[in-house]
Amino acid sequence: MRIAFCCTDHKPEPWLAGLRAALPEADFFVWTPGAPAADHAIVWSPPQQFIDEQPGLRTLFNIGAGVDALLKLRLPPGLQVVRLDDAGMAVQMAEYVCHAVIRHFREFDVYEADAAQARWSFRKPRARAEFPVGLLGLGVLGSRVAQALAQFEFPVKGWSRTPRVVDGVECFHGAGQLDAFLAASRVLVCLLPLTPDTAGILNRAHLARLQPGGYVINVARGGHLVEEDLLALLDEGHLAGATLDVFRQEPLPLEHPFWRHPKVTVTPHTSARTLRDESIAQIARKIGALSRGEPIAGLVDRGRGY
Ligand SMILES: NC(=O)c1ccc[n+]([C@@H]2O[C@H](COP(=O)([O-])OP(=O)(O)OC[C@H]3O[C@@H](n4cnc5c(N)ncnc54)[C@H](OP(=O)(O)O)[C@@H]3O)[C@@H](O)[C@H]2O)c1
Repeated sequence: MRIAFCCTDHKPEPWLAGLRAALPEADFFVWTPGAPAADHAIVWSPPQQFIDEQPGLRTLFNIGAGVDALLKLRLPPGLQVVRLDDAGMAVQMAEYVCHAVIRHFREFDVYEADAAQARWSFRKPRARAEFPVGLLGLGVLGSRVAQALAQFEFPVKGWSRTPRVVDGVECFHGAGQLDAFLAASRVLVCLLPLTPDTAGILNRAHLARLQPGGYVINVARGGHLVEEDLLALLDEGHLAGATLDVFRQEPLPLEHPFWRHPKVTVTPHTSARTLRDESIAQIARKIGALSRGEPIAGLVDRGRGY
């Protein structure tokens, strides 16, 4: 079994060492143009040339949860795409979102500014019941984040495409229930895949439906957010702030208003990183299962886009 490694922005050596140790029977190699045919490939942002030169590939293992960039390539119809599911990302996402929600709710940003000026002053405690958190997306990451938020006793709402039942979460689904979900939320967390149906979902019409003093956390993809709509709602006062990890253009350009906006916190697409060891173990398990003809989790439905 030959397995190509074609991941831009990742040093191949440590990946190959780990993969060879996990699957000694397979022949792993770093793809270069003109390389011989492989059965499977481990990819991140591969060039179209890679796909075109490997028509016999059976599986693409994407070393991330989001496959929006991969699905923009011309892929042969029978090629199966497999995403990482969790592989250490869900707990990181839970940390990031809980940190952002709690920092806003407890006004730790204000305390940080006070401390910088040696000012000892208290903020009035706020009622948790007045900070319902709405999660757009209740998949692998969204449901783990919901569980973590519920531990801090925030009211949690969730929205998905199909009906879901998640312990402790008031669940909504489908376009028909989106407005009711938004009206029930004050803090909005985006954990959707980027698809034609979800692009631009964080727009003026939807964000304006959040409860007054709304707060936006985008940890999914930059393409979900209409950036000028967010800025307008922040400046008009309907929204209290935003924590953004993903952007339409990354790295976020130096002159972008988000960098200096007093109500916006920016992080550099770091909310849930791909962890090499966990990812290698998961991919090796899945290759093993495929070669025994067993089903695997994380198969992407290419028609649906996630
Ligand atoms: N910033 C980062 O560092 C980072 C890291 C990892 C992932 N991400 C992003 O996070 C996204 C989510 O990851 P995941 O593993 O949780 O994905 P997932 O398991 O595929 O879950 C996706 C969720 O979104 C829902 N959904 C999809 N399309 C929808 C629509 N049109 N309307 C309503 N709900 C819709 C799905 O509904 P159903 O339950 O009905 O299918 C599901 O609940 C990834 O696609 C990626 O873009 C970002």
